[in-house]
Amino acid sequence: MSEIVLETRQLTKTYKNRAAVNNVSLSLNKGDIYGFLGPNGAGKTTTIRMLLGLIRPTAGSVHVFGKPLATNKLDILRRVGSLVEYPSYYGHLTARENLETIRRILDVPVSRIDEVLAIVRLTGEERRPVKGFSLGMKQRLGIAAALLGNPELLILDEPTNGLDPAGIHEIRELIKSMPKEFGVTVLISSHLLSEIEHMANRVGIIREGQLIFQDSIEMLKRQASSQLRLSVSDPETARLTIARYDSRAVLEDGALYLDLLSDEQIGRLVAHLVQEGHSVYRVEEIRKSLEDLFLDLVGGDSL
Ligand SMILES: Nc1ncnc2c1ncn2[C@@H]1O[C@H](COP(=O)(O)OP(=O)(O)OP(=O)(O)O)[C@@H](O)[C@H]1O
Ligand SMILES: [Mg+2]
Repeated sequence: MSEIVLETRQLTKTYKNRAAVNNVSLSLNKGDIYGFLGPNGAGKTTTIRMLLGLIRPTAGSVHVFGKPLATNKLDILRRVGSLVEYPSYYGHLTARENLETIRRILDVPVSRIDEVLAIVRLTGEERRPVKGFSLGMKQRLGIAAALLGNPELLILDEPTNGLDPAGIHEIRELIKSMPKEFGVTVLISSHLLSEIEHMANRVGIIREGQLIFQDSIEMLKRQASSQLRLSVSDPETARLTIARYDSRAVLEDGALYLDLLSDEQIGRLVAHLVQEGHSVYRVEEIRKSLEDLFLDLVGGDSL
């Protein structure tokens, strides 16, 4: 059995009778890179704030390292690194000075500052005031701060917000290395599946406060299942014949779409159609992309 690092049970947050987060039960195993996905306003940040004890759930609970957060907050948060929405820093201080203020609170050795600066590749920029940093550098400094206390769990809320493709790539590579190199479990939120699909091993998809999917990337891919498209001479009547094989067959843009059948079933279906006098022009397999599936799940309009 893999060890559960983070678990929420029916986590709910209501603002003025509106549930921003509704009965969400997440679970993260040790070493997971868990992609927490959802469109704008879905409830990602609200969930993450509850995971970090920044706001109190209306109902439900958060368990981290096997203990309830509500009664073990300090012990738990000591072992968690986080970056929520935008990193906070003192602009007039240098990167090193900013990290130093956090280091004192966490009480870790000074050498740890050099280590985290190297991890996020800010060595060499550490003596510059942060107000002169680019967005990507500030974001990396935020991640450095999150790593300072050698966390076992890292919670990052849209850490690639506002970064260019090169910056996104760099942060993605950095996060990917975390479980292997540092034994860290990571929860990372995003509104883009494409951004996390090559990094995460598990995903949770939240829409309007509800968790609508939680499983491995492989299972998500399997859901992006194939369909069969049939072009025939008389689709209207062919649909009635096909209904015996797939009652949910639909007629769209002059072609018939049905759930994928086995080779044998397709053979029989085509023979049957021909027997009934139809000409079968084309039999195609249409595979939905992962992105299409994600947009179907969360509703393309809201993105
Ligand atoms: N303090 C608050 N008071 C009232 N409503 C709130 C509050 N915080 C969040 N909400 C509402 O809860 C819902 C979820 O917001 P949340 O910030 O968690 O979404 P999100 O998934 O992080 O979105 P984004 O991708 O834009 O960051 C939104 O409808 C938001 O307006
Ligand atoms: Mg958010």
